[in-house]
Formats: sequence, structure tokens, C-alpha cells
Amino acid sequence: MAALSRSSCRLEFLIGKLREWQRLERRNIYKKKWASSLPRVPSTQLALKSMDMNYSLQFGDLWPSIRLALLCEQKYAALLNGFGDMEKVIQEFEERAQARDFVYEARSQWPEWTPHTDSQPRADQDSPAPGPSDPEPSEFSDDCTAEQSPSTPDMKQPIPISPNLKCFTFPRGDTTRFKPARPDGLRLLEYYLMDAASLLPVLTLDVRPGHTVLDLCAAPGGKSLALLQTECCRHLAINDISISRLNRLRKILHSYIPKNLRTEDRLRITSFDGRHWREIERNTFDRVLVDVPCTTDRHSVLEEDNNIFSRLRLKERQKLPLLQTQLLLSGILATKPGGSIVYSTCSLSQLQNEYVVERAVEVAETEHNVELHLVDLSAVRTLYRNTFHFYRHCRVGELVLPHLTANYGPMYFCKLERIH
Ligand SMILES: C[S@@+](CC[C@H](N)C(=O)[O-])C[C@H]1O[C@@H](n2cnc3c(N)ncnc32)[C@H](O)[C@@H]1O
Repeated sequence: MAALSRSSCRLEFLIGKLREWQRLERRNIYKKKWASSLPRVPSTQLALKSMDMNYSLQFGDLWPSIRLALLCEQKYAALLNGFGDMEKVIQEFEERAQARDFVYEARSQWPEWTPHTDSQPRADQDSPAPGPSDPEPSEFSDDCTAEQSPSTPDMKQPIPISPNLKCFTFPRGDTTRFKPARPDGLRLLEYYLMDAASLLPVLTLDVRPGHTVLDLCAAPGGKSLALLQTECCRHLAINDISISRLNRLRKILHSYIPKNLRTEDRLRITSFDGRHWREIERNTFDRVLVDVPCTTDRHSVLEEDNNIFSRLRLKERQKLPLLQTQLLLSGILATKPGGSIVYSTCSLSQLQNEYVVERAVEVAETEHNVELHLVDLSAVRTLYRNTFHFYRHCRVGELVLPHLTANYGPMYFCKLERIH
């Protein structure tokens, strides 16, 4: 009996200990939570810190001014909707808003320019901008221009100026904003507000009438819309891995493009992983735009939401250059021999820009026997120098730097021609 009561005492003692241990465990779990919810550094701060470290090395004395512009209000442009009632909007912009069509201005600088469709540049627009041989405007004579490339573009190059793209901007230093677009008589929105620098990859792609075009990472769709506004795409394949972002793209197309032009044979919308496009279609398109996911530098220093510099997305960020290279390679393989590819990002990072292009070209040549030509884009830089602040030291491609007098970008773009 005594032995029984001793063992029941021992059992009670053990149960007590177990409860105590469980309580301690729970408290430990609680403590752990406390530790992980210590005041965290905002992702925007992490972004700035990382950029300060990398870009002060990459851009030297230019970095403080780029940094300031990145943190200030971005400038927007109005891409006119050619399928709507454009004349009224143009008149309103020119008379009331003092805005100008920077694409038309560039076109009027080019004496040799002839449109590749029957529409002619309007004769009633404002006085032409300086000619291609004129000197750079004085505000560009900072370090950016230390190593001047010729200010006269190579006349033998094709000139990437679509006659149908009309994009209005306010002059340098003018920070007036465009009002939100209204629906016109056809219930299509009059214009699309975008960073004017986002139009440069589309202009550089130089889509000609009858071309088949692939926009590999298309959502939310600003550049796809611009491609459609050229009225040159016989067929536009729009792809993005994200279904929710593609839904936003569909809404944009719905608001700007008439229904009869949104047919399957003209417009195909898919949601594939662009890295595997080569398994679907190879050697197919005349033009391919590869506007890859990147560190979206302006967004990253301003917005906490969906910030790629958040600690949780570290691995994703580290893998970006690899993903970008794979996407560009896929775009190269989807292009016909004789066709062209434009690669673009909205990051200042050399690792995501020049290095990706150089690596993709190397892999295409060594592993896929594809010969590519890197197109010199100094003509594009000269043509659009009145609107954008370009960096002069990219090894390949061009880069628009954010600048307080022209706060667009960052936008990197590079063009490749596929020889075979
Ligand atoms: C910079 S955004 C494209 C912006 C778009 N071109 C525009 O002008 O509105 C990059 C896009 O790439 C998409 N993306 C990311 N990984 C992808 C992949 N593996 N294949 C296809 N699209 C991808 C993202 O969903 C994102 O919409």
C-alpha cells in the first residue's frame, strides 16, 4: 500500500514537472515571437542602403543627384490613344497645358526621316527642336557627358520613330501633372499616363508594318499598349507569368483598344513562364520585347508594399540576374533570324543591365549557335536628349537617369539583332 502511494506521489510529481515544462515551452515560444517582431528596418531603408553602397561605386559623383531625383516626385507623360479622338486632346495639350509631343519633336529633327506607314507627321506642330548636329543643351555638360560620343547619329541606322506614337510631356523643369484621362465619344480613354522613358524600349524596338511581335513580360501592359498604338503589329503575343497582373493588363486594353482590334488573330494573351517560351515557339517573331522583373529602383526607395528589398525576398532578389538572363535568352531564341530583341529594366544596376545582356549573348552564341549583333543606340540618345537625361558610360545599351529637371526613369534598354 505504501509502495502504491509512493508511486502515485511520484506520478503527480512528474505530471507537475511536465506541466511546468510545457508552460516554460509556451513562454519560450512567446519570447521567440517577441524577438522576431523587434522594430524592423523598413524595406525602403534597406533599398537605399544597398543602393548607396553599390551605386556610389557605379556612378561616383553622379549618385547624390540621381538619389535625390529618385526620392522626388516622378514625372509622367501622356501617351495619346490613337484609337480615340486624338485631335481634340492634342489641341487642348498644346493650347492650355504647354505640353509637347516628344516623339514628334525627335522626328522633326531628322531631315532624312520618312514614315514607314502612310501617315505623315503633322505640319501644324510647334517649331522643330535642334537638329542632330546641334550641340548638347548646356545642362547636360556635367559628368554625364565627360566622355562625349558623337552627337550626330549614324545616318545608316534605322531610325526608331513610329509615326503613330504621340506622347506629350511638360518641358524640362516643369512639374505640372496631367489630369486623369477621360473617356471620349467612343468610350475609349484619351491617353495613358506613364513614365515617358518607358516608351524608349518600344521606340527602339522599331516595329514595322506587318511585324509579328512578342512582349514576353508584359503586365501590367504600358508597353504592350504602346506597341499596339504603333498600329504596326500584325500579331502581338502578350505574355506574363502573373495572372493577376494580366487581369490589370486586360482592363487597360479594354479601356484603350476598340473591340474589333482585340481579336485572337491580332492579339494573344498567355500566362507562361517566359523562360520556357522556347519550348512553345522558336525562331518565330520579327520583334521581341523582354522587359524583365528587376529591383524597380524608384518603387523600392519609396514604397513598402511589395518591396523586393524586404528581408523575406532576399533570395528572390539575389536570383534576379539569373532569371533576367534566362528570360532574355528565351526572347533571343523566340526571334527569327533577321529579327530584333530589346531588353529593358527600370533599374540602374549594372548587374541587371549590361552584365545580363553580355551573359545572354555569350550563352546564345556558345550554347545555341545563335549569332547576334549589339546595336549602337547613340542615335536614340541624341534624338531624345531634349527630353531625357542619359548616362554616357554604359558598355552596351542606354540608360536614362532620374534627374530633377527631367525626372523620368531609371530605364535601361539594349537592342540586339539576330543574324542567324
Ligand atoms: C517590369 S514588369 C513588366 C512591365 C510591363 N512590360 C509594362 O510595361 O507594363 C515585369 C513583369 O515580368 C513578369 N514576370 C516575372 N517572372 C516572369 C517569368 N518567368 N515569365 C514571364 N513573366 C515574368 C512579372 O509578373 C511582371 O509583370
